[in-house]
Formats: sequence, C-alpha cells, structure tokens
Amino acid sequence: MAGSLFAMSDLHVAYPQNRAVVDRIEPESDQDWLIVAGDVGELFGDIERTLRLLRSRFSRVIWAPGNHELWTHPRDPVQLRGEHRYRELVRICRDNDVLTPEDDYGVWSGPDGPVTVAPLFLLYDYSFRPPGTRTTQEALQLAYERGVVCADEMMLHPDPYQDRQSWCRARVAETESRLAATDPGLPTVLVNHWPLVRQPTEVLWFPEFAQWCGTERTADWHVRFRAVAVVYGHLHIPRTTSYDGVRFEEVSLGYPREWERRGTKPDPLRRILGTAP
Ligand SMILES: [Fe+2]
Ligand SMILES: [Fe+2]
Repeated sequence: MAGSLFAMSDLHVAYPQNRAVVDRIEPESDQDWLIVAGDVGELFGDIERTLRLLRSRFSRVIWAPGNHELWTHPRDPVQLRGEHRYRELVRICRDNDVLTPEDDYGVWSGPDGPVTVAPLFLLYDYSFRPPGTRTTQEALQLAYERGVVCADEMMLHPDPYQDRQSWCRARVAETESRLAATDPGLPTVLVNHWPLVRQPTEVLWFPEFAQWCGTERTADWHVRFRAVAVVYGHLHIPRTTSYDGVRFEEVSLGYPREWERRGTKPDPLRRILGTAP
C-alpha cells in the first residue's frame, strides 16, 4: 500500500477565503487518509458540506471535534447543546462515512504503518492556569480582568454536565480506558483538537487563554500510549515540536487574517506518515 496520512485543522469555513482554500485541497494519491482535527466551522450545514467534500476526495477521513463545532451558535438552525450536539455531529459524520472518536480506531497500514490512528475528544478543564493563579476561579477572574475570555464561555454549553470541567473529566476517563485497550504492539497517532501537553501554549500571546486549551490529565499520554505523532490544532500556531522524543504537529489553517499576513498561499495539508512521491 502507498499513500500518506495527512492532517489539518481549524478550517473555519465560515470565511469565504478559507472555504476557497478547502475547496482546492486534493490528495496526492487515491490511498491517502485525512485527519481533520476540529474547528471545521460552527454551523451544521457548513460542517457537513465540508466533511462530505473531503470524504469524496480522500479514501478515509477522520474527524475530532473542535470547540467551534460544539458552539450553539445563534445563526445555526440546529440549536442542540453540549453532549447532544456532539452526538448529532457524530451522526452526520457516520452518515458521510467519516470516522469519529466514537468509532473503532482505524489502523493505517500504509508507509510507516501499521499505526493505530485515534481521534480523541477530551475538551479542557482550566488546569493550564496562567502564572500567579492557584485556582480555576482566580484564573478565570484574571482572564475577565484582562479581557481575554474564550467565546466558549458563552456558546459551548456542557449539558447535561454541570460544567465543562466535568464533561472533560468524563471524556478523559472514558478515552483513557479505550486507549489502554488498543493493541500494545502498535504505535499510535493521537489526534485531539486541544494539545495533550501544556508546553505548546507557552508561546501564546495571551497566557490567560491557555486555560481553554487542554488538561493536565493527559500530560503523559503521548508516552503511555506509544504515540509516533500527536496531531492538534486550536492554537492557530502551525508548527512541529517534540516532547519526550514524540513529534507534535499543530496543523491549523487558522483565520484569513492570520495566514494572509504570512504572504504565501496556505497549504493546510501536513504529512504525518508516508513520504512525498
Ligand atoms: Fe480554531
Ligand atoms: Fe479551537
């Protein structure tokens, strides 16, 4: 088997410039897989149209939700909240043959394989607190004082959980047992919209924003679960780094104002496994 495993995230297709970039994306071969690590958009119509388009081009598409898909946006005719919204997103993915965190993990058996590819949905629990704060309450208060508050506070509802921390805790517990049950003989590619470790948030322009970016509970997962690569987005800081010898790939396209100032045409596809032809 030939082909490559590609990844991208943060397509934010509500912006026509981003939609034009996404419409141009083509695989290199008919055996390529594509990981979409969240923030496709906010509206169900946009999300479904985009995933269907990508699935028509790539032999397999694997999706993990971002915070934007989980927003209950006032302009979306679908007003589901929280867990119900997530389950409905999973349903539209299944209708379009797109793998989700609720499905059996796929095994990439192309170049550099076999590797288990695991899309995760873990959310965040405010444990990436800014320096000088000791509790979630202090961290949030500082963010409000400085005017750096994630829109999730208004639009990402945790129903039926009491708060986003509880939802995160439940997701982490369930995901941890599923990962522990994967074939110990195979390495993994772990995919989560939010970074699994805190270090990538250290370069954020506003350190207060880190509390919406992940959880300390996954700090050793890249080692424990044999990752050859960890794919994430959300920060809109595309780059490759390494922690404990494991490659971390931030694969976001980001907003037009972010990629336009780089002056080059964006190419959001990042090769995770495989080699260029
Ligand atoms: Fe994003
Ligand atoms: Fe995000």
